[in-house]
Amino acid sequence: METAVASSNHSLPRLGQPAPPFEADTTHGILRLEDFKGSWLILFSHPADFTPVCTTEFMAFAELAPELRRRGVELCGLSIDSTFSHIAWVRNIEQNFGVKIPFPVIADLNKEVASLYGMIMPGESKTETSRCLFAIDPAGILRAMIYYPLSTGRNTQEVLRLIDALQATDKYGIATPANWKPGDKVIVPPPKTTEDADARMKAGYETKDWYFSKRAV
Ligand code: BEZ
Repeated sequence: METAVASSNHSLPRLGQPAPPFEADTTHGILRLEDFKGSWLILFSHPADFTPVCTTEFMAFAELAPELRRRGVELCGLSIDSTFSHIAWVRNIEQNFGVKIPFPVIADLNKEVASLYGMIMPGESKTETSRCLFAIDPAGILRAMIYYPLSTGRNTQEVLRLIDALQATDKYGIATPANWKPGDKVIVPPPKTTEDADARMKAGYETKDWYFSKRAV
């Protein structure tokens, strides 16, 4: 099986550009990036099947899946393991912890998708993907990347917050401040001309100074 775009380098993809296309074997059959068009996609890698931190992450993402689905977001995992290993591991998680893994997991044995997305950090491991996460929007544009080391399990509530922030940005044309959560005020993008800066002071937002305005959404 060949990917649509093969690459042997480990360059990182770029925010705001089309996410690298792929075609891959998964626990749900062959999937291509294109198959997710029209939905948001969280593509995330883990170092290896049958490892404890990864097991906690898989269960946390499984728990989050319904909330993500309500927001039009699909999940897809990835590691450099075979489909047989993935199948055995997800069955093991269900047997041991009673958690069903509802999302597909890419079996990236030839490291093609990992290379396209820069998921291998040779300083950490040459044979395992680090904990990388990519938020891809319904048009296939890469909107956010999170890179964590092998040793640190991710906070899935932060992933949900990231999706809420990206979707609020798209809906209202705003930005979100530090530690923003849905219901909090948002940031009105700062003016780019002196004329707009003057106008901003009278625009009716909650304005501290010309560059710092908040509003409710
Ligand atoms: C883990 O998932 O437990 C793990 C995987 C790779 C390195 C360290 C921990």
